[in-house]
Amino acid sequence: MTTHRIAVLPGDGIGQEVTEQAVRVLRAVGKISGASFEFEQALVGGAAIDATGHPLPPATLELCKKAHAILFGAVGGPKWENVPHEVRAERGLLAIRKELDLYANLRPATCFSMLVDASPLKRSVVEGTDIMVIRELTGGLYYGEPRGVERFADGGARAVNTMVYTTREIERVARMGFEVARKRRKHLTSVDKNNVLVVSQLWREVVTRVAKDYPDVTLDHILVDNCAMALVHKPTQFDTIVTENTFGDILSDEAAILAGSMGMLPSASLGGTVGLYEPVHGTAPDIAGKGIANPIAAILSAAMLLRYSLNMLREADRIEKAVQRVLEQGHRTKDIAGPNDKVLGTKEMGDLIVQHVERG
Ligand code: IPM
Ligand code: MG
Repeated sequence: MTTHRIAVLPGDGIGQEVTEQAVRVLRAVGKISGASFEFEQALVGGAAIDATGHPLPPATLELCKKAHAILFGAVGGPKWENVPHEVRAERGLLAIRKELDLYANLRPATCFSMLVDASPLKRSVVEGTDIMVIRELTGGLYYGEPRGVERFADGGARAVNTMVYTTREIERVARMGFEVARKRRKHLTSVDKNNVLVVSQLWREVVTRVAKDYPDVTLDHILVDNCAMALVHKPTQFDTIVTENTFGDILSDEAAILAGSMGMLPSASLGGTVGLYEPVHGTAPDIAGKGIANPIAAILSAAMLLRYSLNMLREADRIEKAVQRVLEQGHRTKDIAGPNDKVLGTKEMGDLIVQHVERG
């Protein structure tokens, strides 16, 4: 029997708390399916800065490269706000993405029917929302050269970031977009700023060319500003979205609100040989350490790990169903609770989901 080696990188803030629950759920899956998991923890982000002075210690990167999949928590927080830019906690995550060539970030935003009223948006707007945002993750402004700050003698300065994409980078993420759309409702929307940016003009040209290989998928293009509006105006018009790194960062946070809470959103980063799975929500320093964070995004990330890295589709479904059932029964963490709901903590929510996974 193969042993699935999972690198566990909880990171900072609520990353620590929610990742623990996702690991428990995977252990439960191991118990019922007979699959064997081996979990090995490593430091990343602020936790790694504190221990080693670096946000991505070489030992962590080695562990990730040797693993079958990576379960990631979140990185960053006020404690590390003032460290030099190159060793910020966030750089740990950016370096892993680049080193492992994780160029496609899948962020599903699904509005669970029982959570329609948890969204600050109207029921009539969010009901039925089921979007997959595919964000390019290793190019664009995040990594483009030249970048840096020039300080002038008069106290002024000039700072540069570069948005850069090659045909190859656009093509591979576009293909991922079409492949994913093909398994969904066969509608891909490519988001760009083609009326202003030359990078977007190349983006649109390449995506349009790739579309010829996918005649069964309907492709449309939308400008990023218009997309930001459409997402809160009529989110049900979207199926699969593909876009560049920075636009995807912004739009996926916006899409998260359609699902009721950031605490519900998982993600998968794919492309290289090892996939990385992380909740979209970040470290949430305001609630870290209180045991009240919603572990569902991390648990659903574990389900994505089973689906995309280990091809354990039945077990992935089982986790998703367990989450659904627990929500149907009215169990809520603080972020998704209505005024009359009894509020559960992180571990209690984890307990319930583990029980449902075990029971099937
Ligand atoms: C995300 C986060 C990261 C990003 C930060 C933490 C570097 O916002 O995964 O969306 O900007 O990519
Ligand atoms: Mg973000």
